[in-house]
Amino acid sequence: MSSQPALIAIFGASGDLTKRKLIPALFNLYLDKQMPAEFTILGVSRKGDAETFRTQMREAISEHSRRGDEGLEKWDEFSKRIDYINGDYADASVYERLGKRIQDDEATWGQEAAHVYYLSVPPEVFPVIADHLGSAELSKNRELDRIVIEKPFGRDLDSAEDLNKRLMASFRERQVYRIDHYLGKETVQNILAFRFANALYEPIWNRRYVDHVQITVSEEGGVEKRGGYYESSGALRDMIQNHLLQLVCLVGMEPPTSFDSDEVRNKKVDVLKAVRPLAEADLQHQAIRGQYGPGAGMAGYRQEEGVEPESSTETYAALRLHIDNWRWHGVPFYLRTGKRLPKKLSEIVIQFRPVPHLAFPPTSADSFEPNRLMINIQPDEGISLCFQAKEPGAGMRLRTVAMDFNYCEAFRMTSREAYETLLQEVLIGDTSLFMRADQEHEAWKIVMPVLLAWEGRKATSFPNYAAGSWGHAAADQLLARDGRAWHNPA
Ligand code: BG6
Repeated sequence: MSSQPALIAIFGASGDLTKRKLIPALFNLYLDKQMPAEFTILGVSRKGDAETFRTQMREAISEHSRRGDEGLEKWDEFSKRIDYINGDYADASVYERLGKRIQDDEATWGQEAAHVYYLSVPPEVFPVIADHLGSAELSKNRELDRIVIEKPFGRDLDSAEDLNKRLMASFRERQVYRIDHYLGKETVQNILAFRFANALYEPIWNRRYVDHVQITVSEEGGVEKRGGYYESSGALRDMIQNHLLQLVCLVGMEPPTSFDSDEVRNKKVDVLKAVRPLAEADLQHQAIRGQYGPGAGMAGYRQEEGVEPESSTETYAALRLHIDNWRWHGVPFYLRTGKRLPKKLSEIVIQFRPVPHLAFPPTSADSFEPNRLMINIQPDEGISLCFQAKEPGAGMRLRTVAMDFNYCEAFRMTSREAYETLLQEVLIGDTSLFMRADQEHEAWKIVMPVLLAWEGRKATSFPNYAAGSWGHAAADQLLARDGRAWHNPA
């Protein structure tokens, strides 16, 4: 917990993220006694007022907090710290009022506070707000003034660079917290503990023992009410450029020498820099796109609200990447993500090579499965190691069994929400779990050839997978061509 008081201004307070994630996360931190003793939450938006905002947020807690109604008796106490500034983001008086509020609160608290400006607004508004914060001198304290930026951070390499330049006109890098909420997930952070706090895995975590890596982030849901946003995004921008590439970094990085935020991020960015650029000529075998059509009683993407009837936006993307360094040369990383797949699941599969020589007769197993390590990010958070065991009884019959670690059982608690962790880190002032500008840059560089190719060539075969299926068949070919197959959980 940070003992320093904090004023958290949420720009875009009337939006979805505020009620679904931010306020429930702050309230849960409060219930867990992880908020500073003194704090103010200020909603900032063009519509609404303090009273309406508090009422709406109270309802949002019941609906979206992981605790549901539990702890709501503390809501009144918590909501006294919530206030509101109604105004246009381009209006200088909004920032004057914000500055005045900071001064007043600090005078009341008798000490300086952390000033967190959370931008939960469409990306085109980021520069306007950042510029105004700069002009109002609300960004000049390099320790206390912190800006939190929601994704998407740009829509391609150039726009991300432009956005960064605008931010850097008012803030320094260490004041900027670029959110990738996957980094706040306990199981994602646990990859570092698993790899670097155990001596057992590191010696085999390389091209000598690992055959390939699969990363699947599948969602059962469709685009729901976000058709408008999604039409300008697609799966590659929405998921691969950020969440999946972050997972690649954690699996692929070299051991850090310390857990200093820059050291960890340096090691991660090295992975992105080592990703072999996707050549246009090979793209059709390296990058697969799909869009869901109707299926299993559900509408197709083109029938969703806010979506063009002839939309060419991909709701599914699969990539094969290579990391050209000593550890990973020749080990493909297969990535896939999609909406309206059979199951919500985020999983990393480390597929090991077969044993060099099999001494057992072919009759001893129906099929020999090499070892597989599965890191389940969600929903069944844990890690499973699959290996061969002898079946009980006479003779030597082998069967694949699993050794399981389940997060909730081991720690006897449900994982907290990623946003709770991330907001707490912002309050503490630790940037480790946030994207640095150079990481954003490298991640965009990786996906750019695919983005350009897909935007340049409309998908003629869309829709090409049925809602509720495991995506476009060409993604199976992506692996089949290499003699491999996706691990599709039952
Ligand atoms: C968001 C994407 O970043 O991540 C959404 O914009 C997606 O489209 C979501 O649904 C998935 O997050 P999670 O935590 O539910 O896996």
